[in-house]
Amino acid sequence: MNPNKPSSPSDDQLRPHTYDGIQEFDKRLPNWWLFTLYATIVFWVGYWSYYEWFRIGLTGAQSVEVSMKEIEAAKLASAPAADDSSLWKMSRNSTFVDAGRVTFNTTCASCHTEKLTGAIGPNLVDKLWIHGGLPSQIHATIDKGVLAKGMPAWGPILGPKKTAEVTAYILSYHQEGEAIEKQDAWIPVAPK
Ligand code: HEC
Repeated sequence: MNPNKPSSPSDDQLRPHTYDGIQEFDKRLPNWWLFTLYATIVFWVGYWSYYEWFRIGLTGAQSVEVSMKEIEAAKLASAPAADDSSLWKMSRNSTFVDAGRVTFNTTCASCHTEKLTGAIGPNLVDKLWIHGGLPSQIHATIDKGVLAKGMPAWGPILGPKKTAEVTAYILSYHQEGEAIEKQDAWIPVAPK
C-alpha cells in the first residue's frame, strides 16, 4: 500500500490542506457520536431548567438541611422526651409538626376544632390555660387527659411518639417565653 496515495473506502473528499505531508478525509461523524452529542444537549436543557431556571431541585445546602431535619426528627422520635426544651425543639421541626397536624385533625379537631380555637374542648391557641401552658404541662394534659371534664387520656391510645407530635403541633402556634395566664374553666360552645 502506498502511504502517499490515500485511498478511501467511500466517496469521502480529501480536504484541501496538507500538514507535514499529511492529508485528511472530510469524514462524516458517526451516528453514535452525533446521537451522544444531541443527547447531552437535551439533558443539559432539562438539567439547567430543573436546577437553575425553575429552581425545582434542591441545592446541596438545602438537601443537607432537609436531611438534618429528618435526622433530628428521627432522634427525637426514638426517645420522645416530654421536657420543655425537647418539645419546643420538636415544635420548630416541620416533620414533627406535620405529623402532629394529621393526628390533631383526625383525633382532636372534633372537640377543639381544626383551627384549635375551641368548641367542646378549650381554645389551644390563646394564652389561657386551665392545666398549665408549659410544653411539659400541655403534654401531661394530653397524655393523662382530664377525665372528669370529658378530655380523654390520649397517651395510651396514641403512644409516646404521636402524643409528642400532637403536643409539638399545638406548640407550633406558640412562642417560647410568651405570656401564660390561668383560666379557671372552659365553657363548652357548639363547634363552628
Ligand atoms: C371528646 C372531646 C375531646 C377530644 C376528642 C379532645 N379533647 Fe382536649 N379537651 C377536651 C375538654 C372538654 C377539655 C377541657 C378539660 C377541662 O375543662 O379541664 C380539654 C382540654 C385539653 C387541653 C388542656 C387545655 C388547657 O387549657 O389546659 C389540651 C392541651 C387538649 N385538650 C389537647 C387535646 C388533644 C391534643 C387532643 C387529641 C389527641 C384532644 N385534646 C382531644 C375535650 C376533648
